[in-house]
Amino acid sequence: MSNVIRLALVDPHDDSRESLKSMLIGMDIVWLEAECSRYEFFQDVVSQTNPDVGVINLDGNPEKAIALIERIRVSTPDCVLLALSKNTDGPTILRTIRAGVCEFLTLPIEVEEVHSALNRIQEAKFGSGDSRVRTCKMIAIAGATGGVGCTSIAVNIGCNLASNPENSVALVDLDLALGDADVFLDSIPDYSLLDVTENVARLDFQLLRKSLTKHSSGLYLLPRPVQLQELTAINPESLRRVIGLLRASFTHVVIDTSKSFSAVDLTAMELVNEVALIVQLDLPCLRNMVRLLMSFQEMDNIRDKVKVVVNRMGLESGQISLKKARETIGRDVFHQIPNDYRTMIEMRNNGVPLIEQAPKAPITQSIMQLTDMLVGNVTEPIEADGQPSKAKSVAGAAGWLNFWQGKPGAKPAAKATT
Ligand SMILES: Nc1ncnc2c1ncn2[C@@H]1O[C@H](COP(=O)(O)OP(=O)(O)O)[C@@H](O)[C@H]1O
Ligand SMILES: [Mg+2]
Repeated sequence: MSNVIRLALVDPHDDSRESLKSMLIGMDIVWLEAECSRYEFFQDVVSQTNPDVGVINLDGNPEKAIALIERIRVSTPDCVLLALSKNTDGPTILRTIRAGVCEFLTLPIEVEEVHSALNRIQEAKFGSGDSRVRTCKMIAIAGATGGVGCTSIAVNIGCNLASNPENSVALVDLDLALGDADVFLDSIPDYSLLDVTENVARLDFQLLRKSLTKHSSGLYLLPRPVQLQELTAINPESLRRVIGLLRASFTHVVIDTSKSFSAVDLTAMELVNEVALIVQLDLPCLRNMVRLLMSFQEMDNIRDKVKVVVNRMGLESGQISLKKARETIGRDVFHQIPNDYRTMIEMRNNGVPLIEQAPKAPITQSIMQLTDMLVGNVTEPIEADGQPSKAKSVAGAAGWLNFWQGKPGAKPAAKATT
């Protein structure tokens, strides 16, 4: 229980108390220690249960509630107080804050607002270095052209993360028209992104997990809608709400974006911590990548997150050298994944992630390294030979490329079956 915020709640109205309660118990970071329907009893509840945070809905009787806040401030000063109310009038908010609450939130409330308020409270109470608050790491996988390997990589990153029992991981298929992440995971989902979008206000943590399809790896999948007519319901605003709920409920969220770079895709890319832009070393793909990187450069919330990942290194036909590619894009390549068509296609056909299907294969190891790098377990970019890329000169990179292309004098070539 050391990872959760212990919380007590008072709200005289049954309806709002129930909905608050289900929202709170749906959050991974919260343990609801006590709930109470009478302001008169809440001070005792707090002193007996000693929660980290007391949540007080003012709307039953604002006067009584403010007096209660003043009393708890004195009797249990360590308990951080959070006030909720439909009332937005300035004097009431001011009085409530002066009475001693840390945060004042206006009802109705979104789960992400509560989540960030609790994070702020935790930070103020325990300091930012404290590990008690679980944060969610979100990664978007985008591609510079169709068929570049985004879904293969997104699914395997999701399964790699889910293999750690401390993680809870969701994969969102945002390729709304043609997404096939469910095929990769060999699953027939009951619900889609549309269902979660339509019910986002009513879902708590348990219901959310039931709406997602759980793969045997532990990864939860939120698939794309079934019919094209349903796509209009998914817009930047609705996606923000769904991602807010996922962020509050999972330790990691991986998003497989579409290749249209629509407003929905860009919203996802704004919300995540990292964007892996998957490319292959051929002319059309590199040309797209240059255009995309130029566009991202103009986008404040995306620019610094984009990491270029070269997939299918060693694929012979139409390949441009890594050196040339680096010169063209004017930045370093974050990671490289070897070409191994047979292993990848078997993975998709069997619905078994690479870590189970071929744990020792270089392609598996490479995607595991990428996973670690994206979630911050490794700080320095690593290339497919396991060495940090900064330690290499450009000539070193060319030598490395020879390795994958099987050139004379280089290390033995990896399989390059297409
Ligand atoms: N590193 C790789 N080596 C060999 N084949 C790959 C690799 N990555 C992906 N593929 C293959 O490329 C094809 C397209 O991959 P997919 O993940 O569906 O791309 P996208 O989601 O970008 O359209 C699939 O047949 C997949 O097996
Ligand atoms: Mg795909």
